[in-house]
Amino acid sequence: MTTGAETTIRPTAADPKSQYFAVRNLRAYYGDSYIVQNVSFDINEGEILALLGRNGAGKTSTLRTIARAGSPDLRSGEIWLKGEPVHQMQSFQAALHGIQLVPEDRRIIPGMTVEENLDLACISGELGWDYERIYALFPRLKERRKQEGTTLSGGEQQMLAIARALARDLKLLLLDEPYEGLAPVVRHDIEKALIEVRNAGITTIIVEQNAVAALKLADRAVILDTGEVAYDGTAQEVLDNEKLRHDYLAI
Ligand SMILES: Nc1ncnc2c1ncn2[C@@H]1O[C@H](COP(=O)(O)OP(=O)(O)O)[C@@H](O)[C@H]1O
Ligand SMILES: [Mg+2]
Repeated sequence: MTTGAETTIRPTAADPKSQYFAVRNLRAYYGDSYIVQNVSFDINEGEILALLGRNGAGKTSTLRTIARAGSPDLRSGEIWLKGEPVHQMQSFQAALHGIQLVPEDRRIIPGMTVEENLDLACISGELGWDYERIYALFPRLKERRKQEGTTLSGGEQQMLAIARALARDLKLLLLDEPYEGLAPVVRHDIEKALIEVRNAGITTIIVEQNAVAALKLADRAVILDTGEVAYDGTAQEVLDNEKLRHDYLAI
């Protein structure tokens, strides 16, 4: 690990149960491959945290571990959301407790309209935002609510994937590369929506290859380097620190 002198790692709180969200010493594997290597960090309620790092650094694996996706396999470590032990949960339980992962491929359900995709999200667990509020955030989804979800543009599918998370009782939104393949103008629409989501008090972890865009949106940043935390601090510090960006983000 190329730790520059100015690289800092914000100390984690002594009691992860007292944090809004905390992960401690996460170690996750794909078979024998040790991928998420002793990752710890805290997030305050309503914060946006940018989880960054080069390709293959372990960002997707960390999000999947938090969402209890099954693979990678969490072998040790703890995940706490508002004092609830997420590390002891299966993926459906983590979802019922308010953790919603929006994966890179968005997983819009084929053969269903926009509104039916939302209906399906509301089948189990407590409800979140009503459709009126969701459509006020994403007017394009309202216009297309009777259209099959998979026929939407990439940006609209990303909006629908976020909308599905909002339709449930959402406490922690996990976004994996939400801007991938999107034109800047569409990205700006999604950025505006994510700011409104934060203003509503929802906490977000955003993984993005477009690190500058993610850092401008985020309050905090955690940088992973080969599965380990290499930096934990403010997003602004990463924007200001050329060495940090060069060493870990290649930007
Ligand atoms: N299903 C898998 N099986 C085995 N190894 C995997 C699997 N998915 C990812 N990896 C490996 O885990 C590491 C981290 O991958 P990933 O979390 O996808 O990184 P990132 O999202 O930061 O690009 C990489 O070395 C990748 O090759
Ligand atoms: Mg990834």
